Amino acid sequence: MSKLSQKHLLGIKDLTSEDIELIFETADNFKEVINRPVKKVPSLRDVTIANVFFENSTRTRLSFELAQKRLSADTINFSASNSSVKKGETLLDTVNNILAMKVDMIVMRHASPGAPHYLAKHIKANIVNAGDGTHEHPTQALLDAFSIREKLGSVAGKKIAIIGDILHSRVALSNIFALQKLGAKVMVCGPPTLLPKFIGQLGVEVEFDVRKALQWCDVANVLRIQLERQQIKYFPSLREYSLYYGITKKLLDSLKKQIVIMHPGPINRGVELSSDAADSQHSIILDQVENGVAVRMAVLYLLAARP
Ligand code: CP
Repeated sequence: MSKLSQKHLLGIKDLTSEDIELIFETADNFKEVINRPVKKVPSLRDVTIANVFFENSTRTRLSFELAQKRLSADTINFSASNSSVKKGETLLDTVNNILAMKVDMIVMRHASPGAPHYLAKHIKANIVNAGDGTHEHPTQALLDAFSIREKLGSVAGKKIAIIGDILHSRVALSNIFALQKLGAKVMVCGPPTLLPKFIGQLGVEVEFDVRKALQWCDVANVLRIQLERQQIKYFPSLREYSLYYGITKKLLDSLKKQIVIMHPGPINRGVELSSDAADSQHSIILDQVENGVAVRMAVLYLLAARP
C-alpha cells in the first residue's frame, strides 16, 4: 500500500495499522533526509499549508512548520489570540477566508473536541488535527509510537504505561488507539479522579499505584496535569500529587529493570517528573521531539497525495 486510507488526519481512531506502518516507513526516509547536511527536499514545492492554532503550542506548531519547510511547502501561520476571531469571526469563516488565498491544507489545533471533524464536513482541503481539546492528538501518538519502535525495535508486544492526568489528555486517547493498533499492551495509571470512569472498556489495564505500573511496563509515557482544563480540584495539591505519582530517578533506580521514560511536553518539572528523571539515560523525550519533524513530514507528504 502506498496511499493512506484517509484524506484527513482527524484521529488515530480512523487509521488502519497499515496506514500507521506506511507513515512510519515514510518517516524513516524523512528522518534520514533531515540528518543530511542539506535537510530539504522539493516534495511539496507546489503545496501551501496554513497552521491554524486556536490554543497555545510550542512543539507541535514549530514541528509542523519545520516539517513543511523541509518539504519545500509554502507555509502561513495563524494564531487566534491576535486575529479577527477576537472580533467575533467564526471558525468556518476564518478557515474559508484562509482557503480563499489558495491554501491546500489546514493544520489545526482547537480547544473544542471535534472541531476538525466539523471542518472536514464543510471544506475540501486536507485537514490535520494538531490537537482538539481533550479528544485526540494524532501526530503526537504517531511520533510517540515511532520513538518506541526506534528505541525498542518494535511496538508489538511491548508494555506501555500511560501515567498521569488521563481524564484531560488528548495524548492518552490517541496513544491508546495507536499502541493497540500496533499490538502493544497498554496500561493507564493515575489517581482515580484523573482516570475516566469507563476507560477499562478501551481494553487497557488500570492501575492506581505508580510503582506497580513502572514494575509492569517497558515504557512509561508520563503526562502533565492539565490544570488549564480543570474547573474543579481533582486532588488536594500539586505537592501531594508529586508525592504519590511523581516519577523520580530514585524511584526508577529502585526498579529491578531498565525502563524507557517518555513525555509529550511541556514537562512540569518536579510535579509529574523530576529533573533528574527527565534528563536521565532512561529518557527519550528529546528523541520524541526530533522524530516529530520526520513523522509530520510523512503525514503531510502522504496527505498531499490524497487531494
Ligand atoms: N506535545 C505538545 O502538543 O506540545 P505543545 O502543546 O507545545 O505543542
